[in-house]
Amino acid sequence: MSVEALRDLLDRDEPVTVLDIRRAEARAEWAIPGSLHVDAYDALKSGDPAALADVDLSEDTPVVTVCNVGKTSAIVARQLRARGFEALSLAGGMKAWSLAWNSAEVPVPGSDARVIQVRRTGKGCLSYLIGSDGEAVVIDAALEPEVYLRLANDHGWTISSVLETHVHADHLSRSRRLTELSGAILHLPDQDRVSYPFVPVREPDELEVGPTRLTAMHTPGHTPESTCYLLDERALFTGDTLFLAGVGRPDLEATSEEASARAHALYRSLQRLLDLPPETLVLPAHTSEPVAFDGEPLVSTLAEVRERVEILKASEDAFVEAILARIPPAPPNHHRIVGSNEAGVFPEGDPTDLEAGANRCAVS
Ligand SMILES: [Fe+2]
Repeated sequence: MSVEALRDLLDRDEPVTVLDIRRAEARAEWAIPGSLHVDAYDALKSGDPAALADVDLSEDTPVVTVCNVGKTSAIVARQLRARGFEALSLAGGMKAWSLAWNSAEVPVPGSDARVIQVRRTGKGCLSYLIGSDGEAVVIDAALEPEVYLRLANDHGWTISSVLETHVHADHLSRSRRLTELSGAILHLPDQDRVSYPFVPVREPDELEVGPTRLTAMHTPGHTPESTCYLLDERALFTGDTLFLAGVGRPDLEATSEEASARAHALYRSLQRLLDLPPETLVLPAHTSEPVAFDGEPLVSTLAEVRERVEILKASEDAFVEAILARIPPAPPNHHRIVGSNEAGVFPEGDPTDLEAGANRCAVS
């Protein structure tokens, strides 16, 4: 079964048992929401006929088996079929699942715009489609351009602009390709990192989408050019500056001195964001958990984020010290991903080769 077919089944809430047979360590990194786990990988590899004896499956529900790249899961699917189950293997395994997505609408009281949160559940990237009066803007396209074109079409919107909050390090940006396919204008924060044409965004630039308005706020820290976009003074697209349970890491593509300077800049940027009204909705570019197919948006008010993220209450020096002490391991291949995103060249072949692994842009 293809990723798209399984995604559609889960999206339509159809009965299916997703059986994850990977080792526990692999599952701890990332998983398919609602999947059942049996740590049978080693037993299967050694040909143990009782490897799946303990798995409690319903005969009436189709089973989709999942492993790392789809080889062992194909063997398991065959065994289950021999036992009378309707079973298929997820082609390409969790590596291919990286591109799976779902969406949820975010209610934004006080704005005429409709905001669709587009969640790359296979990796944790969050992007946004904001529609108003037949027009739409995409922020941080992290999925194939067709996904946004299809969603915009479903709502009767034409994508007129594509924005990025910063040059990404954890995923290949699809923004440039989306503008090529849609004819939309590419807006990037003002910087001299990328080597292709774009319309530079500088604070306090405003972009109109029908009757609604996106206002740019320059919030350096995660990267020097990082920019947030405020929708009708009600919802803030924070990129990797502020997450629902953490803040952006300041160290990628930086020396240790630069990382420290960026951590100071991040503190000041966050203080500016925290001065916005407490009911402002925070819509970040990542989550650290696989996103369920439940139609529930991942969103909090600024007041809730301030309460949840302890480090936001620290003084500048304590904040910088804590951030630099808690930096997680760098995402695999981030140099090559940044290189592609700066050059605007989408690599040939399977993008998930380069994008392997969970996103790691947050410090919490
Ligand atoms: Fe980032």
